[in-house]
Amino acid sequence: MRTLPLLTAVERLEDAKQLDPLAGVVRGLVKKAVRPRWLRDVLHGVPLGHPLHPLMVQVPLGAWISAAVLDCLPGAEKQAAVLVGLGLATAGPSALAGYVDFSELHEQHQRIGVIHSTANAAAVGLYSVSLFQRLTGKPGGGRMLGFLGLGVVSAGGWLGGHLAFRQAAGANHAEDVPHRIQPGWQRLVRLDELTAGRMERRMLGSVPLLVLRTAEGKVNVLSDTCSHLSGPLSEGTLQIEGGVSCVMCPWHMSVFSLETGDVMHGPATSPQPSFRTRITEGTVEVCLPGAG
Ligand code: FES
Repeated sequence: MRTLPLLTAVERLEDAKQLDPLAGVVRGLVKKAVRPRWLRDVLHGVPLGHPLHPLMVQVPLGAWISAAVLDCLPGAEKQAAVLVGLGLATAGPSALAGYVDFSELHEQHQRIGVIHSTANAAAVGLYSVSLFQRLTGKPGGGRMLGFLGLGVVSAGGWLGGHLAFRQAAGANHAEDVPHRIQPGWQRLVRLDELTAGRMERRMLGSVPLLVLRTAEGKVNVLSDTCSHLSGPLSEGTLQIEGGVSCVMCPWHMSVFSLETGDVMHGPATSPQPSFRTRITEGTVEVCLPGAG
């Protein structure tokens, strides 16, 4: 089947550097406006284990779609107005979660992201006027603007789908690791080749791993490919977070526990695959639970 011409146009937008100044302004504003790390983590969806934004947008979209259905029925003007208002009230928090995700994406994502958010902002404007008209006794105009708003927010949603499914923004970029690792214990590296306290990148078959020999003689092993957007964790920095030894990704500063792979701070929301380790005759062996 041939690709839609519209899709080809959107793919060109991914390379449209003219959008970078606008994306930079939005990114800067978001980073200034949402500073506390705990709040950014919540808005990214770290406690949920996946991005919060796609979940939150269900509310305004559902309200506006339902309002459009009621607008097609006689005698449901008040209920439709309530739903339009509900959509407007919940669009802001949903957008905020999306903007926080946007601020930690690659440039190609952000070029699509600014168009996505501009379309959604236009839809909010149309729905705001629609609600005003409904509340001031002009239900016909309110209905028309509502239908127009639904068309615009659908176009914005389509771009959101492009971001999520074509560009894999928000997806778990370490999901494939267990499928590429043999089950059971695998030999990885001689222990005496590792320097205590220095992160190293080692390959297990085709899978890059972050390996750290601790000062206490233990060995921590995680997938080296960051679950956020595939950054190389072994080029990151070691740090202690709440008494836990962690690695911070060099690309967007997600922080993972070296012991468990758990996400301590976003933008990543998925944990790093974490390997069990043992030393056999001076060789580090690793085993990934659930591999194969
Ligand atoms: S690639 Fe974005 S935080 Fe690691």
